[in-house]
Amino acid sequence: MQQEALAAVADASTVADLDEVRVAYLGRKSELKLALRDVRDRETGMALNAAREAIEQAVAERETLLERQELDAKLSSEQVDVTLPAELLGPLRPRPRGSLHPSTQVRRDVEDIFLGLGYEVVDDREVETTRYNFDALGFPAWHPARSPRSSLFLDDETVLRTETSPAQIHKMESQRPPIYMVSIGRVYRRDTIDATHYPIFHQFEGLAVDKGITMADLKGTLLHVMRALYGAEREVRFRTHYFPFTEPSMEPDVSCPICGGSGCRVCKQSGWIEMGGSGMVDPYLYEFVGWDPDEYTGFAFGMGIERTAQLRNGIPGIRPFWENDLRFLRQF
Ligand code: DAH
Repeated sequence: MQQEALAAVADASTVADLDEVRVAYLGRKSELKLALRDVRDRETGMALNAAREAIEQAVAERETLLERQELDAKLSSEQVDVTLPAELLGPLRPRPRGSLHPSTQVRRDVEDIFLGLGYEVVDDREVETTRYNFDALGFPAWHPARSPRSSLFLDDETVLRTETSPAQIHKMESQRPPIYMVSIGRVYRRDTIDATHYPIFHQFEGLAVDKGITMADLKGTLLHVMRALYGAEREVRFRTHYFPFTEPSMEPDVSCPICGGSGCRVCKQSGWIEMGGSGMVDPYLYEFVGWDPDEYTGFAFGMGIERTAQLRNGIPGIRPFWENDLRFLRQF
C-alpha cells in the first residue's frame, strides 16, 4: 500500500491531483487511517506509522515541488514587459498621439524664422509696472489703454501687460546696440469675449537697433518674415498709422494668403490683410534708457500669434484657441 501511495504521489502532476492522492491515502477514511484506528499490537502500529510518515513526507516534498512549478509557470505566462509599446500588448489599438497647439506651432515658427535672421529670442514678464507698460513707451496720461476699463490692473502701478512692447525697454536697459531681438508671449486686455476678442492672447514683438538702420530694413525684414509664414508669393505694404513709441508708425499689410490678392471674404475683397503695428523706434525711447538719440536708429513691430494661426489655418475666431476642445485641437 505504501508503494502504491508513493507511486501515486510521484504521478500527481498538479497540486490539485496531489490533494486527491493525499485524501485517498492519508484521509480520515483512508485504508491506512482505518487500519491505524484498529491497531492492537505495537509492531503493527510502528509499521503503519512508518508508512504514514513516509507517505506524508513524500506528499510534502511533492507539494513543494509542484507549487514551485506552478508558480514559475504562472510568472512566465503572466509576465508583462513594461517597456513594450502599448499597441503590442493589448488588442492592436493605435495609441492616440497629441499634437502641438496651433499657437505653439506659430510661436515655434516665429522663433525659427528670427533665429535664422540672427535675432535673439527673449522671454519677458507678464506683470508690468505702468512705467514700463505705458510711460517708457510714450503713452500720454490721457491714453485710453491706461484706464482700468481697458486694462487689467493689480494696483495703481501694476498692470498685466497690454502688449509685448515693454520688452523693448527691458532689452535696451540691459544691452547696448546692436540689438536684434524678438519677444513672444501673452498679453492681457479687458475685452469682452466675442468671435474676435479674448482677454488673453499672444504677440511677437521685434526690435532692431543699430547704427544706420532704415525703414527699408524694416520692410525687408517684414517681407522675409511674412513670406516665411505665409508663402513665398506674399507682398507687404505699409499704411501710415500712429503708435506712441514709433515715429513714423506704420501698419504692415500682407497680400491675402487665401486669395493671393484678388479679393475674398477673408480680406474683405481688398486683397490685403492687416498684420499688426510697426515703425521706427521713437528717439524718446533712447532718451528714456539714457542713450544719445542721435547715435542709433532702429525699428520695431508687434503682431498677434493667434491671428497668424487663424490666417494660416483658416480658423474663423479666437475663442477655440482657449477652450481646449479636442475636436478643435485635433485638427492641427
Ligand atoms: N504694441 C502694439 C499693439 O499691441 C503693436 C506694435 C505697434 C508693436 C508698433 C510695435 C510697434 O513694436 O512698433 O497694438
